[in-house]
Order: sequence, then structure tokens, then C-alpha cells
Amino acid sequence: MTGGAGYIGSHAVLALQDAGWPVVVIDNLVTGFRWAVPHDVPFVEGDVADMALVGDTIRRHNIGAILHFAGSVVVPESVENPLKYYRNNTAASRNLIEAAVASGVKHFIFSSTAATYGIPDVSPVTETTPQRPINPYGWSKLMTEQMLADTALAEDVNYCALRYFNVAGADPHGRTGQSTAGATHLIKVAGEAALGKRASVAIFGSDFDTPDGTGVRDYIHVSDLAAAHVLALNALVADPATSLRLNCGYGRGFSVLDVLDAVDRVAGVTLTREMQPRRAGDPDSLISDNRAILARFGWQPRYDDLDTIVGHALAWEKSLMARAS
Ligand code: UD1
Repeated sequence: MTGGAGYIGSHAVLALQDAGWPVVVIDNLVTGFRWAVPHDVPFVEGDVADMALVGDTIRRHNIGAILHFAGSVVVPESVENPLKYYRNNTAASRNLIEAAVASGVKHFIFSSTAATYGIPDVSPVTETTPQRPINPYGWSKLMTEQMLADTALAEDVNYCALRYFNVAGADPHGRTGQSTAGATHLIKVAGEAALGKRASVAIFGSDFDTPDGTGVRDYIHVSDLAAAHVLALNALVADPATSLRLNCGYGRGFSVLDVLDAVDRVAGVTLTREMQPRRAGDPDSLISDNRAILARFGWQPRYDDLDTIVGHALAWEKSLMARAS
């Protein structure tokens, strides 16, 4: 697994371990944390673009499948520094795929994103909704989807691109969570504010075409997302001729105000809300049609409840504070 020391990857390590799959993590620790990887998981510190290191790791550990989480994820940063995104996401993935195929890896699971849809014409968004990214982050991920599609036609490898909607929450057992300092995600930011690490929460836009005027997103619990990766791995191994592109969301949306209300409720606080202008490139509403993943994998989300997601995020935020003090 690449990026196993990061937010989503560290949850996927736990899900794979729970399912009995042996895991090896490669991570350059630029945004990830060594402590987020369990001690019984072999850990290779290095870059996924380093083809010699990747090839060596694959052979040494007899790797049969790669789950590729490593990458850069901040949309506004991708607008300011697009080449960083084309390097860390697109070019690094190209090297990784080449090293994987050359070393005999047969299955590839890729962390794609709802950002590949841009501002969709329809809601909910299905997998066949045209992918028209509106920022370099979305393009960098869509290009990797394309490389995988082309490679799967030419080589003896199949792949699953999982298009994540808004990932939030933390491991219900408190083993890992979103730990990046300066994170920009709404639930992370609101959790920090609830615990007094920030004075207020900005609401970026209240004139969207949504019921309460604030942006609507499909928030999915990170542990349900991690479970979907285990199902994807099973599916790729069971049917090597088939590749998949699937939305990962719950198929319903919450507004920014819904989320802040949930944080108030769960944390027992009243967050200070600050109205601000829209951020560049924010769609009004982004909701998944998740029927394909439900039907294909029999995926059964366990934490499809906003208060549960917020509660787990808050619990993790508290344990981060205790760790820091
Ligand atoms: C997130 C992901 C992106 C993914 C997308 C898929 C990150 C950093 N972003 O983007 O990779 O492609 O989901 O749907 O991982 N908001 C506020 N105040 C805040 C922060 C956010 O009002 O302080 C609002 C935003 O305007 C938006 C919503 O909350 O309406 C969610 O924003 P955010 O958590 O930043 O995620 P996305 O931009 O949707």
C-alpha cells in the first residue's frame, strides 16, 4: 500500500489487517505519520515515484496488489501549484504503475475523487456522469484513472478506481484519524473549533442553489470507505478480467449548516460561525449515486449517520490534543 501512514491509508491498513490480508506500507512521511502504521506492518520509507525502490519492495514482499493512496489532496493548493499535483499525483502514479506491472503486480486500487466530476450537471452523480475537472487536483487524478484504463487494456492487470466523496470521521476504536496540521476539511476544522483550537468556523458562501444556501456534500465515514477497499480487492482478485470505477459516498447530502449544527449537538458547544464569500470552484452540491458500489460489492455502510461521523472526528481530535500536551 502506498500512503499507508496518511489519513485514509492508515484506516485501510486496519481494515485489511482485520480482514486477514498481509500489508506492506510505503510512504515518504511528507504528510503521513510513522506512528499511524501499526508496528507489525512492514514499513518502507520512500517515494512511490522511485521505481527501483518500488520494484524491490514488490519482489521482496511478493506483492500481488497495490492500493495507491499516496498523493496531494488540497484543491486550492493545486490551483496555486499545479505542477506539484501533476508530479505527486500524476507522474508519481505513472512510475508506480510501470514498476508494478514490470514486477508482476496483477491488481491496482486507486484513490480517485469526486473532484474528477467538476461541477456536474446532474445530482446525484453516477459513474457515467461526464468527468470534467475544474482544478489541477481533479485533472491529476483523472489522468491517473486514464493511465490505469489504458494499462489494463494492454497488460495483465485489472484495477478499481474508487471516487471518494467527502471523507470524514475517524477509526471508531481510536487507533487513527485525520492528523494533518492545518487541514482545511469542514468537519476537521469544525472539530478543532469545538475544542477551542480555533476561534470560529468560516462558512464559505450562503448563496448556493441549495435548501439553506450553503454548500451540500456527501460525507462518508473513513472506516466505511476503508471497508470498501477490502471489498474492491476481493472483487479484483475474484475476477481478473474486470476493472471497476465506483463512487464512494452514502448518496445523500448535508449542508455546511447541517454539519455545524451536528458539531454543536455532539460537542455540546455553540460554534462561532463567520459568513465569508464562496471559495473559488466550489460546486453547490456534490452527492453520489452509490447504487453501483452497493450492488457490485454488497457494501454495507456501518456509520452512515452524521452525528456518528462527527462524534468519531471529535474523539480523535481530543486524543490528538492529549498527544500534543
Ligand atoms: C473535499 C476534498 C476533495 C474531494 C471532495 C469530493 C480535501 C481537502 N478536499 O473537497 O479532495 O475531491 O471533497 O467531494 O480533501 N467549508 C466551509 N468552511 C470551511 C471548510 C469548508 O464552509 O472551513 C465548506 C465548503 O465550501 C464546502 C464544504 O464545506 O461547501 C466542504 O468543504 P471541504 O471539507 O473543504 O471539502 P471539499 O471542498 O468538498
